[in-house]
Amino acid sequence: MKVVAVLGSPRAESQSSTIAREILRGAKDAGNETVVYEIGKMNVRGCEGCGYCKEHNSDCHIEDDLKKYWKDLHECGALVLSSPNYYAQVTGPMITFMDRHYCLSDAQGGQRLASGKKVVGVFSQGSSDANAYMPQYRWYLKTFTDHGFTLAGTIVHAGEEPAAHGSREMQEAYKLGKSL
Ligand SMILES: Cc1cc2nc3c(=O)[nH]c(=O)nc-3n(C[C@H](O)[C@H](O)[C@H](O)COP(=O)(O)O)c2cc1C
Repeated sequence: MKVVAVLGSPRAESQSSTIAREILRGAKDAGNETVVYEIGKMNVRGCEGCGYCKEHNSDCHIEDDLKKYWKDLHECGALVLSSPNYYAQVTGPMITFMDRHYCLSDAQGGQRLASGKKVVGVFSQGSSDANAYMPQYRWYLKTFTDHGFTLAGTIVHAGEEPAAHGSREMQEAYKLGKSL
């Protein structure tokens, strides 16, 4: 099975990316193929609200760096989404990316993706209260569950301490990846 990750942090030393990559390590050890997209290095335009996808029952027609992603998305069994918290929400580029999934439902409201795909959310925040932004994280993931994904797990890295090698959250991440 293919596991696709979209990493939302622009930082090289990112906590959310570190945890997401640990999930991928687990997924790989379980025999899966992994594909990584780093949103900060990509040209991803906003949804144009043009209706092309509904008219043609197709993936988004915009010619940008999501072109290859749509193919991976259709082929994958699981999607791992990670983001830092910027001003109480995932980052702007991750919301721009999310908006583009409008093409996943057809004009009748039916789902265009095959069923049975899983989604995992990884969020990193400065606040040490892991529940402080849970409504925002749930809202973000709802776009994906509304398009037929099953939520397989949510990991919140709370506080500015780095995600330490061998820590409980890294073990949880690895285990989650193995179970996808
Ligand atoms: C522009 C900006 C806004 C931020 N806003 C918040 C915030 O509202 N709440 C919070 O808890 N942390 C906030 N932070 C802290 C980051 O969420 C935190 O450092 C996070 O661990 C970074 O994730 P990363 O290591 O994956 O890049 C903010 C950081 C930046 C740069």
